Amino acid sequence: MTQDELKRAVAEAAVSHIKGMLNNDTIVGVGTGSTTNLFIDALARIKHIFDGAVASSVATAERLKAHNIPVYELTSVDKITVYVDGADESNANLQLIKGGGGALTREKIIAAVAEQFVCIVDDSKLVDILGQFPLPVEVIPMARSHVARELVKLGGAPEYRHDFVTDNGNIILDVYNLDIQQPIALESRINDIVGVVCNGLFAARPADVLLVGSDTGVQQINNPRNP
Ligand code: 5RP
Repeated sequence: MTQDELKRAVAEAAVSHIKGMLNNDTIVGVGTGSTTNLFIDALARIKHIFDGAVASSVATAERLKAHNIPVYELTSVDKITVYVDGADESNANLQLIKGGGGALTREKIIAAVAEQFVCIVDDSKLVDILGQFPLPVEVIPMARSHVARELVKLGGAPEYRHDFVTDNGNIILDVYNLDIQQPIALESRINDIVGVVCNGLFAARPADVLLVGSDTGVQQINNPRNP
């Protein structure tokens, strides 16, 4: 199967996975990226069985609206029953690197609110140790050089993502060469740098369920740390 076919298979599996959680009042959190786009297309088929969605990016909101799925602001909903999103990497504890599409901050906010976080990936995203994919860090523009210097002190090699502005009006530094043996500690350490808005480590709040598409089908992995 091609990578696109694997992404489509996990997108369909995600709809099957969440279907039983949905009712007329349910709000679904929706992530950003090519895998999530396929999920949105599949979700549209069952739009009559849930209330609406909260989007993690302008692009996702537009795609949801194109399918006539109602889009709510996070400030106007009481709860998000389930959040579905892709990732750039996942380890065995379902800790993730996200933000390849630059939507990491809104994604992390929705993941924090959601009762269940379902992550959908093809098997190329599975790694033993996070960090082969450069870690995206969203930064207030005026702090760019300061944050870059601090990231170098942590052993990283930050690269400015050219011609890209986040939905929040900020810039992204993609950090190469980080040795991410302690994802929770590093997530917190990077967040402590003045000028950092958010970083793409989803370790303190990992996924609850990982759906992995491979040539042998879609495998469901539950977070080993969940009771
Ligand atoms: C966007 C993300 C995406 O989920 C991540 O980049 C994976 O994208 P894709 O499904 O296109 O491979 O974090 O900010």
